[in-house]
Amino acid sequence: MIDVAFTGAQVRAATTAVVIDVLRATSTITMALSSGYERVLVAGGIDEARELREDGRALAGEVECERPEGFDLGNSPEETLEPRGRELILATTNGAPAIIAAAAACEEVYAASLLNLDAVVATLAAGPLDVLLVCAGTNGAITLEDVYLAGRLSALLEGERTDAARIAERLAASFERPLDALDASAGSVGLYAAGLDADIAFCAQESITATVPRLTRTIGDVPILEALPENVDAPEAASAGAVQKLQTHKRISM
Ligand code: MLT
Repeated sequence: MIDVAFTGAQVRAATTAVVIDVLRATSTITMALSSGYERVLVAGGIDEARELREDGRALAGEVECERPEGFDLGNSPEETLEPRGRELILATTNGAPAIIAAAAACEEVYAASLLNLDAVVATLAAGPLDVLLVCAGTNGAITLEDVYLAGRLSALLEGERTDAARIAERLAASFERPLDALDASAGSVGLYAAGLDADIAFCAQESITATVPRLTRTIGDVPILEALPENVDAPEAASAGAVQKLQTHKRISM
């Protein structure tokens, strides 16, 4: 069964959760792992992220779209193209809590963005389908860009779907281009206001990497995401402008 949780608060137990925060957390995680970070540590808040800091770890995140004081990076996917350490700690308002909720409730967890759309579909299609597509939303509200990607993913998967999945598919089919959906979303308003227009265009790129972030373990309450071993891109391929389709790969077991 393919189902959609329209906000992070709707996370429930499922075999597989696919967390979606197109603008921008799961896009940033995808690019970080594609660019050579070995893992992403998902922090539950800004203070927790600061406590996780140590040598070899870069600190990234946002509060109201802006880089928090003392952080190395904001939440722009392009900022991760040149790794500043072996590991990235990421604290964000909606995407990070959705991943933490999914890690607590679901057997396996992936992070999806438009950037790795084809690779996520290939990964899911290789296994039995009990998939909950988790839209992070914004502050408890549904966001158009996350439901758009949930609909794109659902439409590409075989199997039964819930009405929630059908709703997402219809929404996705109503946009000609990903950028149209992102531009129509409330999520883009904050990014435009912060002068982060380039992030919207970057996150609208489709299937530019074969990297699929997967939950490998949690340390305390901190989910650790790593790239599926088969589909780590060569870092130079990811940072080379990220416009070519890279090959997709099969899922491995935990
Ligand atoms: C979030 O997790 O709320 C976001 O990714 C917000 C953003 O940085 O655009």
